[in-house]
Amino acid sequence: MKNYIKIHNKIKKFNKNINVSSDKSISIRCVLLASQAIGNTRIYNLLESEDVNNALNSIQKLGVKYKKSKNFYEIAGLGLNSFNTNRNIELNAGNSGTLARLILGLLVNSKRFVTIKGDKSLSARDFSRITEPLKLFGVEIKSKANKLPVKILGSNFLRPIKYEERLGSAQCKSAVMLAALKTPGITKIKAKKSRNHTELLFKSLNIPIKIVKKKYFDYIEIKGENNFNGFIYNVPGDISSSSFFLVLTILSENSKLTIKNVNINESRTGILKILNKMNCKIKIKNRKMYKGELIGDLCVKSTNKINAINCPKNLNSSAIDEFLIIFLVAAKAKGISIFKDLGELNKKESPRLDIAVKFLRMIGINVLRNKNDIKIFGNPKLKLDKKYLVNKFRKDHRVVMMSCIAALTLGGEWKITDADSVKTSFPNFFSILKKLGAKYIEKKK
Ligand code: S3P
Repeated sequence: MKNYIKIHNKIKKFNKNINVSSDKSISIRCVLLASQAIGNTRIYNLLESEDVNNALNSIQKLGVKYKKSKNFYEIAGLGLNSFNTNRNIELNAGNSGTLARLILGLLVNSKRFVTIKGDKSLSARDFSRITEPLKLFGVEIKSKANKLPVKILGSNFLRPIKYEERLGSAQCKSAVMLAALKTPGITKIKAKKSRNHTELLFKSLNIPIKIVKKKYFDYIEIKGENNFNGFIYNVPGDISSSSFFLVLTILSENSKLTIKNVNINESRTGILKILNKMNCKIKIKNRKMYKGELIGDLCVKSTNKINAINCPKNLNSSAIDEFLIIFLVAAKAKGISIFKDLGELNKKESPRLDIAVKFLRMIGINVLRNKNDIKIFGNPKLKLDKKYLVNKFRKDHRVVMMSCIAALTLGGEWKITDADSVKTSFPNFFSILKKLGAKYIEKKK
């Protein structure tokens, strides 16, 4: 509890345009793919957060050089076989599941053991979901109880695999895709729908990939051992970071907000569909395509007629990082909202389903839970006037941000601990809140 935020005032009416931080998923993928390219890659608007920093530090430890110029990062890749793994190396993925899991895919040809470690939250998460498929390529992996630290020793005789990804996890799919890059022959993946940034990057880099899309699954084939060239990429804004400001606006009074240049790729926009069904309409302006990604400006207004939702399960994966903030909207909806099959939420930076239920009950909302399904009994008149303490949430950045939005829109006196964890994904979260007129007291370490 060395650093915290105190919020004792609701935010006043605002009408502004903002930019949010760059997309974290795309930033990490760009850094990792640039490390495998031949020649220099320039990444504009790379997210400057702890997770991405750990990705840059990791490729540097593996012998790939990078430098930061005024408005881009330049990464000097030397191809698919260029990681220097002639000695044992230890990499620190910090809080980032995406980095830890995706980089394991790139280490299937390491010459010595490479160890991946992480912070307390990441060390509590399961890695079997990724070590099991990677072992099929022929590599050796050691870990205790499928947790970090995980050690991987690559193989000279990698074999392509057939793999069915059933969780709807983009991290698992992507790690296998990255391993396939280094493996002779054709790796075949049947993957439950999940975010598709890796596929789009592969396509834009002319990496041999075939994708057949079916209703619930995508069938992906990747031909390995094809080097590709360095590239230029301009990272768009992050819809997951935007979601906190969408909801801040929806739950405030008489406010309007435009969030510029946000990635609205179909595989990430579950939140927009869910909010739309709840009568919180978000207009999209200036749509454009960039390297297969759809980008646009999001325009949102305050609403005091929020409807409850029976959330279709097929939106779970495309809104997976947004459920905490969606539950807050459900708390103010008229009627009972139903969310089903959200077991994956408990596998995140913190057990988010458990934490959400506790949080909602703390603010006086009735919640019924049956394993991985919840019912939220909304209260459109919800107003808070007590003291609220948010702690013991494994420093989960999204719990901090959701709690701040609750405090700024519902009232009460709040103390939110470990507020600096927002640095993992959204370092300018608080400066944007300030720009919109939010009042808070910040205690730094
Ligand atoms: C991510 C995939 C999702 C998401 C995470 C980022 C990615 O995790 O929750 O924040 O960049 O691939 P899963 O793949 O475990 O669903």
